[in-house]
Amino acid sequence: MKKLILLAVLVFAVVAFVGCNNDESEQRTLVMGTSAGFFPFEFIADYGQGVIGQYAGIDVSLAARIADELGFNVEIRDQEFGGLILALQNREIDFIAAGMTIRPDRQEVVNFTVPYFNAGQYVVVRSDNNAVHSIADLEGKLVGVQLATTGDLAITDGHDEGVVTFGNIARFTQPLPGILDVIGGSLDAFVIDAPVARGFLANHPDDLRVFADPNGFFGPESFGMAFHKDDTELLAQFNEVLSRLIAEGYVDYLYAYYTTHYAHHAN
Ligand code: ARG
Repeated sequence: MKKLILLAVLVFAVVAFVGCNNDESEQRTLVMGTSAGFFPFEFIADYGQGVIGQYAGIDVSLAARIADELGFNVEIRDQEFGGLILALQNREIDFIAAGMTIRPDRQEVVNFTVPYFNAGQYVVVRSDNNAVHSIADLEGKLVGVQLATTGDLAITDGHDEGVVTFGNIARFTQPLPGILDVIGGSLDAFVIDAPVARGFLANHPDDLRVFADPNGFFGPESFGMAFHKDDTELLAQFNEVLSRLIAEGYVDYLYAYYTTHYAHHAN
């Protein structure tokens, strides 16, 4: 009897040991900081009929694919865009994937991956607005931006430097309410990344018009994922996989996939 109990304990111990050491449970979970509401990069997919939404989009798919190849799990933390860099510095998140533009001032505090998407800013106005065709036409007008984005920075700098004196700048934590204010007529224009503007246009073709400033008010932009300054090893691992996926056309595929099958998610 004693021998049997000893054997049982031994078997249990071996099983428990093996159980703890399989690959699955050893995978580290990386927390991806993002700011959903930015179709086609990150949004909550609404499957309707009472099904609770899931995070989807180019950044979500791309991060999941890279992490999977590197043997990490990914968990999403959705928050305001303007707080992402601080959250990374405080290590509340492990990386940012949020359609974030690579900029020198941001590079002082975080490290970016190689660029994976080229963008720039578009101006979104009501389709029946025949007066506004450039940033200069927004002199004295009410302009909306998403807080702490490159659109916000460009509009704010342009205003402060006296390039164009806007009537007021409305800063939104999310793009959609600003777009709805343009449609409703309480906002003259909303400035946002071109691929995101095209998503809103696809859903409101009769109500909206979008354009790039013809005088080059906005510069070119490209997106990168961001890492903590100390995580150079993790950054190098991500860069290796990301570079290959870009070369294979995976990012182009994701853009086509989401804009084709999920277009209505831009709202
Ligand atoms: N590309 C712009 C920037 O880096 C806007 C990004 C907004 N992203 C988001 N998920 N809302 O400032």
